[in-house]
Amino acid sequence: MDLADLTRDLEALQVEALAAVAAASDAAALDALELDILGKKGRLTTILRGIGGLPADDRPRVGAVANTVRTAIEAALAERGDALRGSELEARLAAEAVDVTTPGRPMRRGTLHPSIEAMREIASIFEQFGFVTYESPEIEDDLTNFQMLNIPPDHPARDLWDTLYVDVEGRLLRTHTSPGQIRVMQTVSPPIRALLPGRCFRYEAIDASHGSEFFQVEGLMIDEGTSMADLKGLLEQFAGAMYGADKRTRFRPGYYPFTEPSVAFDVECLVCGGSGCPACGRSGWMTILGAGMVHPVVLQYGGLDPERYQGFAFGMGPERIKMLKHGITDLRLFLENDLRFLEQFR
Ligand code: PHE
Repeated sequence: MDLADLTRDLEALQVEALAAVAAASDAAALDALELDILGKKGRLTTILRGIGGLPADDRPRVGAVANTVRTAIEAALAERGDALRGSELEARLAAEAVDVTTPGRPMRRGTLHPSIEAMREIASIFEQFGFVTYESPEIEDDLTNFQMLNIPPDHPARDLWDTLYVDVEGRLLRTHTSPGQIRVMQTVSPPIRALLPGRCFRYEAIDASHGSEFFQVEGLMIDEGTSMADLKGLLEQFAGAMYGADKRTRFRPGYYPFTEPSVAFDVECLVCGGSGCPACGRSGWMTILGAGMVHPVVLQYGGLDPERYQGFAFGMGPERIKMLKHGITDLRLFLENDLRFLEQFR
């Protein structure tokens, strides 16, 4: 090997390398070429090993040629690399193009179930009077569902609630939300203004106005000197907010073991306005809830002194409240989850 041979080899490598770089079809091929020519064990290095055999004077000359060759190849690699990357990006952009003008797919939006919506509506009215919502268990014990509400075992009043029992001694599915009264009295000290919405269960023959599963909203107010007048005033405000302030209301004597006196609260028939029609059984009135002054025995079971505290309670079916408002005649619609019914409440 002499100076001329090495110089020729280097120039030959440059010619070959530039041709290969120009022919490379993608970035990966380019990377392979770079490694093959300029890498640590690449062809340029191999040629330069010959420098050791040259006279000391010739070595810088070969070094100068080698640098020119390396620079030329590097420049070619960089240039081709830019071009390839540019077109690869263009190709990708074209392939992955998104047409932002395409109309979107409509999203199906759900709604609250009308029973839930009714309970929220009821709560939002009573909240304005300071009522706070509490939860109470669906699986109750006989004691709280009946006995502490002044309904002893074997008392005929039990016939008012056909009960579904659970496979555990003394346990049942609550037949009403009234046991929540006891639980609130036992945990919250007066003044109490509680709302207890929840699911109830009864062993009923199912028809248009009775279901084995339904919701109730219980209300309870306890304070010193709470009277029947407070109850009447509150319920009138409620009926006004729900059905319109012009609607007439009335109290009618009723019976519940846990309230004394007990009342049924009626609002004038929303269909006929009070003149009497089939919807209201020709009475001109529709009963929307049961209520009364909390029985002293119940206060005692709740841990409160009846000499000091009085209060009232009321219980209503949110489905019934909604049925009257919208002229719905069948309670079962609320349980069947037929979208044709549910979608009307959007
Ligand atoms: N719990 C009663 C029922 O289920 C309703 C009610 C509640 C009546 C509170 C009076 C007071 O029928």
